[in-house]
Amino acid sequence: MVFVWSLVFLVQFLFLYSSFAFACTTCLSFIQPMQCHDEESHALLQFKEGFDIKKFASVNPLSYPKTTSWNASKDCCSWDGIKCDKHTNRVIRVDLRSSQLYGKMDANSSLFRLVHLRSLDLSDNNFTYSQIPPTIGELSQLRYLNLSRTIFSGEIPPQISKLSNLLSLDLGLNIDISSPRSSAVNLLQLKSSILRGIIQNSTKLEMLQLSYVTISSTLPDTLTNLTLLQALSLCSSELHGEFPVGVFHLPKLKYLDLRYNHNLDGKLPEFQSSSLTQLELDDTGFYGTLPSSIGKLSSLKKLSISGCHFYGNIPSSLGNLTQLIYISLEYNKFRGDPSASLENHTKISELYVGYNEFTIETISWIGKFSSIIGLDISSINVGSEIPLFVANLTKLQYLSAQKSNIKGEIPSWIMNLTNLAYLNLAQNSLHGEIPNSLFRLENLERLSLCNNLLHGMVELDMFLKFKKLTVLNLSFNKFSLLSGKSSSNVTESRICVLQLASCNLVEIPTFIRDLNDLECLMLSNNNITMLPNWLWRKASLISITISYNSLTGQIYSSICNLKSLVRLDLSFNNLSGNVPSCLGNFSQNLAILMLKGNNLSGLIPQTYLLGNSLQMIDFSNNNLQGQLPRTLVNCRWLEYFDIRHNNINDSFPFWLGDLPELKVLDLSHNKFFGDIECYGNVTCTFPKLHIIDLSHNEFSGNFPTEMIQRWKAMKTCSTSQLQYEQEAFYFQSLNFKGYWTETDPYSFTISNKGLVMVYNRLQEFFNMIAIDFSSNKINGEIPQIIGELKGLVSLNLSNNILTGNIPSSLGKLSNLESLDLSLNKLSGKIPQQLTQLTFLEFFNVSFNNLSGAIPQNNQFATFLDNSFEGNKGLCGDQLSHKCLDHARLSFSSPSASDDDDDDDSGSLFELDWKVVLIGCGSGFVVGVALGNTFYHQVLGLLKRIF
Ligand SMILES: *[C@@H]1O[C@H](CO)[C@@H](O)[C@H](O)[C@H]1NC(C)=O
Ligand SMILES: *[C@@H]1O[C@H](CO)[C@@H](O)[C@H](O)[C@H]1NC(C)=O
Ligand SMILES: *[C@@H]1O[C@H](CO)[C@@H](O)[C@H](O)[C@H]1NC(C)=O
Ligand SMILES: *[C@@H]1O[C@H](CO)[C@@H](O)[C@H](O)[C@H]1NC(C)=O
Ligand SMILES: *[C@@H]1O[C@H](CO)[C@@H](O)[C@H](O)[C@H]1NC(C)=O
Repeated sequence: MVFVWSLVFLVQFLFLYSSFAFACTTCLSFIQPMQCHDEESHALLQFKEGFDIKKFASVNPLSYPKTTSWNASKDCCSWDGIKCDKHTNRVIRVDLRSSQLYGKMDANSSLFRLVHLRSLDLSDNNFTYSQIPPTIGELSQLRYLNLSRTIFSGEIPPQISKLSNLLSLDLGLNIDISSPRSSAVNLLQLKSSILRGIIQNSTKLEMLQLSYVTISSTLPDTLTNLTLLQALSLCSSELHGEFPVGVFHLPKLKYLDLRYNHNLDGKLPEFQSSSLTQLELDDTGFYGTLPSSIGKLSSLKKLSISGCHFYGNIPSSLGNLTQLIYISLEYNKFRGDPSASLENHTKISELYVGYNEFTIETISWIGKFSSIIGLDISSINVGSEIPLFVANLTKLQYLSAQKSNIKGEIPSWIMNLTNLAYLNLAQNSLHGEIPNSLFRLENLERLSLCNNLLHGMVELDMFLKFKKLTVLNLSFNKFSLLSGKSSSNVTESRICVLQLASCNLVEIPTFIRDLNDLECLMLSNNNITMLPNWLWRKASLISITISYNSLTGQIYSSICNLKSLVRLDLSFNNLSGNVPSCLGNFSQNLAILMLKGNNLSGLIPQTYLLGNSLQMIDFSNNNLQGQLPRTLVNCRWLEYFDIRHNNINDSFPFWLGDLPELKVLDLSHNKFFGDIECYGNVTCTFPKLHIIDLSHNEFSGNFPTEMIQRWKAMKTCSTSQLQYEQEAFYFQSLNFKGYWTETDPYSFTISNKGLVMVYNRLQEFFNMIAIDFSSNKINGEIPQIIGELKGLVSLNLSNNILTGNIPSSLGKLSNLESLDLSLNKLSGKIPQQLTQLTFLEFFNVSFNNLSGAIPQNNQFATFLDNSFEGNKGLCGDQLSHKCLDHARLSFSSPSASDDDDDDDSGSLFELDWKVVLIGCGSGFVVGVALGNTFYHQVLGLLKRIF
């Protein structure tokens, strides 16, 4: 699908400007044809020799290898893709777009000796991550340069800004789809100084296309100097700061695309009349209201501003924009009655207004839009059956009404929407059976009915009638699924995503065996007991999720045949036996490996090869033994490692301390022992670690002061520095193909006495910075430097042998929400500084040797006696032991009672990271879980595909 999408994109740009090249050479002359210059002919042939021809190097289906016909015996001016100047016979144009060129581009490539070139188009070839040669700066006559989708990578050389005659520059779409890692999506980087150079020198630019080029800076105001600019695309360029508002006033600007720059802020200006036809700001930080002057953009055809921070009413002046055919406003806070602005726009073909604050009454006029092909009214509270006006929209190809409180049955009129390719009715209250009429929609490609109350016997075979169906999500209903007999037409099925979570399945439906295109299989929350052998022969699989089932027996090593797997999740089953040793290294793409909550025994898979893609390893809650494999250091992308509740017998894995991405390390409830210290050449900075749980082990030695001093990430207050790959990862590896899949973002519960916190949103997870060393045998004093871990939200050191005072520097941890120092041998007073901790919700110093008065101000007034009990010397209002005067104190009986010291004491504020599965089983929820932006990026892709 990505190909289709890129193509649409490419076509848009390729053909917009292809006319330039022709313009350069229109003057016909009758001068005798001369031969092209030898040195240019040589340069071209030399260039040709540098590459292989591979069909897959181009994505355009009409691509063909232009260079194969190049031949020294013919005049190079007549070669395919070459144009010479009629007077000088110098080569002025090289058009090798979609020519199936494959191979490295030499830094001294002979191509750049063609200094008379005015037009160079190398788009849609694969130069396999070469750098753009700096010699490109020699082509000073260039007016048209297109390097889009050429798979160049690295820094764009500064010499590019020497091209002062450029009219059109396209470096976009150099993205890596082969790597499952987000950080590798954008292949090209453009320093902001070089961008400034381009703007300063190439003042004639009419088109600047830098989509998917990482710029990572603010945009210079000088951009408004490009007064001839007609098209500007900076989609997904990691821009931040305020967008220079003057760009909106560029007189010739027709096309502006700033999508997917989440940190790019801006407000819409007071518009003057302009030639703007396409305005795309989706998933940016643009905010404010839509100005009424938007009515002056009389040429506007496409207004796409979903996933921003807009609010307020839709100005009625929008009604003046008679050219509008595409409106996307989703995921903002628009409200009111948009009918005044929209109801007479009967030309509109796509209208996406879901996820705003509109009400159903104010959108029922949509029924008049008989030509509409795309409609999203998600989250608008319908409160009844699917609104009847939808039945009139017989041209609909895309219909989404997710989370819209739709009740009743799926109406039989649905079969009249014969063009529907996409139908999403997830997260409603639909009941009844799936009507036969639904199966009449033979154009359906994606169908989600997940999270409804549908019931009845469903024969999966029925869905094979949809010849075009690629995504099917029936998860979380009340169906009884009949797995059907594998029939001959199965193999024609194009289903690649199948989601049948919580469908009362007791076995893996056999028809799955013959789904040759199946990439993503989601069967969680069923009662499946056995994994059939044929599953391991389905080499197309990218993602398998069979968590929360009743699988028993062993995981056989034949699983390692699935070399394309990116995600394997068999969590929460009854699997036993050893983990196959190949599991760490069978797929270079494997990013997510989750086997938690089984009865697996033996060793952790020992081999992790360099270059692997593992991001999340979760073996928690099994019976695994032995040591941690040292080859884990090869997991350079590892973000999350959870081995809690096993029998691992090892010393502290300080050697993980250089893993650049490691963010969560949970070793709790094992048999780890010894000092928490750093040895050898490891820096132990744990550069991104923000959650570490070592609790319930046998760690001993002094408090690891030295180690903590090295940790970097915990010292940050700005949690925005803690970025996760996961979101982008899924976008990349699966959703880039245009379909939704079920994912578990890193989500977990912290349960402790009195507080249960579920962190199942990525943002909340970013904000969690926690240390749990509880229930070990750590001794010595808590150092003052602990106050430097400014980001700390939760600190648990309880049940150790810590001595000395409570450091007053803890008062500097202004984000601290819970602090547990109970069950140690701490002495002295509770520092008054702790009363500065205004977010502190949980505090426990019980069972120490503390003395003196308990501070009484701020949060401390809210803590009860059990926070302080078991300290003979403490007095205060919380305790029966009041601090009135010394005489009384010395005679009063010990505070509280020891009754509380029952079964709770061992788990006094025990931090227990439970990664919980969330979600509907529906891919449709994922977007929400991961944030709008993700959802939107995917949605945007989908729309483009249609
Ligand atoms: C380009 O070629 C490289 C090297 O073979 C390959 O890994 C990559 O997937 C190709 N990229 C595209 C977009 O085809
Ligand atoms: C601008 O172009 C001139 C002439 O090509 C060149 O000498 C100069 O270095 C360029 N400036 C930048 C900032 O690249
Ligand atoms: C470009 O813009 C800046 C400020 O916006 C201005 O000072 C400068 O003179 C402009 N340069 C040109 C060549 O117009
Ligand atoms: C919209 O059109 C009406 C009537 O043609 C005109 O009076 C009004 O000023 C226009 N609004 C804007 C914002 O252009
Ligand atoms: C839409 O058109 C109808 C019929 O022409 C007219 O009565 C109505 O006032 C128009 N609505 C708006 C908001 O302009």
